[in-house]
Amino acid sequence: MHNKVTVVGAGFVGATTAQRIVEKSLADVALIDVVDGLAAGKALDIMESSPIEGFTCKICGGTDYKLSEKSDIVIITAGVARKPGMSRDDLQAINARIVTEIVENIKEFSPDSILIMVTNPLDVMSYLAYKVSGTPSHKVMGMAGVLDSARYRYFLSEALCLAPDQVQAMILGGHGDTMVPLPRFSTASGRPILELLDQTQIEAVNERAKKGGAEIVGLLKTGSAFYAPSSSVVDMVKSILLDEARVMPCCAYLQGEYGIDDLYCGVPVELGKNGIKKIIQLDLDKKEKEDLLNSCSKVRENIRKLSY
Ligand code: 2OP
Repeated sequence: MHNKVTVVGAGFVGATTAQRIVEKSLADVALIDVVDGLAAGKALDIMESSPIEGFTCKICGGTDYKLSEKSDIVIITAGVARKPGMSRDDLQAINARIVTEIVENIKEFSPDSILIMVTNPLDVMSYLAYKVSGTPSHKVMGMAGVLDSARYRYFLSEALCLAPDQVQAMILGGHGDTMVPLPRFSTASGRPILELLDQTQIEAVNERAKKGGAEIVGLLKTGSAFYAPSSSVVDMVKSILLDEARVMPCCAYLQGEYGIDDLYCGVPVELGKNGIKKIIQLDLDKKEKEDLLNSCSKVRENIRKLSY
């Protein structure tokens, strides 16, 4: 029997996520959206590509949460995306209402599933999903660190003229303007980035990565990124379903790690079949630690505005 993943929200991120999951033969997918016909239409369209793409996993789509019954993982992408000039935080009030309703529906049909949040503002929505769901924190997480780090790795690989997968690099903290690139922990084929690029080059790459989401919003004008976000969440799904225990930067619930308590933010975690197996505590220097705490304080300010 195949694993089952539900994707809530059949917009660009949700539909591309569903497509990548079946094309990689990771799981059957239930695609759910409030807009009548949207999820059903996209699911059918993807299924009609199966004879050519050669996958045997199935996607069904619709508006009814019954479709999501007994999912191993539920990915929540639904919500309003930002437009040029908006910050991710501008979406908080409206997306909080949407996420609360979705989580309540999901709990009814898949009480034991792992929840992965994608809706922005990501750290606040992950916290909200954790509080509303009552699911243990190791099974509620957010996708952003993998995306921010993928952007960082790509920009570093361009600066180094190397294949992108040769670069290992990480961005921690909240998924917003205060995120924290970690060049000291970044390598290219085992060689430290700090020895391969000068400080000016590194600063330029750090800034571009931090504003990576806004750069795409500025270009698209009518929505935000979806190819790299869907790749990122599917990479997390793969590590969970195949119990790979890969270390990835994810938005996780902190209970004292890095000196931070009762907060969701991006940290390296080991991801396996039960969700977060372990939160990895890097040996950050003073500046890195200050930057992480600063990023967390912005997330906390926004969490205080939540009512749930
Ligand atoms: C991004 O960074 C959508 O927040 C997402 O592109």
